[in-house]
Amino acid sequence: MILQAPCPMLIGIKKFLGLNKKLLIMKKLIAIFFVATYLYACSGGDDKKIESGNKSTSAMDNPDYDAGLNLIAKSDCFTCHKLREPLVGPPYGEVAKKYPNTPENVSLLADRILKGSSGIWGQVPMLAHPNIKKEDAEKMVKYILLLKE
Ligand code: HEC
Repeated sequence: MILQAPCPMLIGIKKFLGLNKKLLIMKKLIAIFFVATYLYACSGGDDKKIESGNKSTSAMDNPDYDAGLNLIAKSDCFTCHKLREPLVGPPYGEVAKKYPNTPENVSLLADRILKGSSGIWGQVPMLAHPNIKKEDAEKMVKYILLLKE
C-alpha cells in the first residue's frame, strides 16, 4: 500500500527516460531508499512515544501515587512490606496483581488495614491500625494498587 505512492511518479520518470532502463532502476532504488528512510524515521518516532508512555511513568503521574506513598512512608507499613519482595507481609506488587483496582477492593483492603488481617497471604497476621482514618487507608490502597508491574 505505502509503496504504491511513488508509482505514478516512477511511471512519469519511465516515460521521460524512454529506453534507459538501468537509469530507471537506479532511480527506483533511490526512491525506495528515500521512502524507506522516511518510514524508518517515522516509526522510530512512534517507538519513542510508546516508551515514554509506559506503565510505571503513568502510574507515577497519577495523583493517587504520591498521596498514598506519602501516607505509607509516614506510617509503619514499610517495616513489614516491600514493593517487590516479601518481608513480613506480601510485596505490594503482588497485592496489586491479586486485586483489580475497583472501589469495592479499595474499600475492602482499607478495612483490612484498619482492622487487621490474617490467613490471606499466610499465617502471619497484620495488626490493626486503629489510628489511621479510613479515608487515608483508601489513599494508601489506591497507591498500592498502582504497583502492578
Ligand atoms: C507488623 C507487620 C505489618 C505492618 C506494620 C503492616 N502490614 Fe500489611 N500485612 C502484613 C501481613 C503479615 C499481611 C498478610 C495478612 C494476611 O495474610 O491476611 C499484610 C497484608 C496487607 C495487605 C493485603 C491484605 C489483603 O487482604 O490481601 C495490604 C493492602 C497491606 N497489608 C497494607 C498495609 C499498609 C498500608 C500498612 C501501613 C499502614 C501495613 N500493611 C502495615 C503485615 C504488616
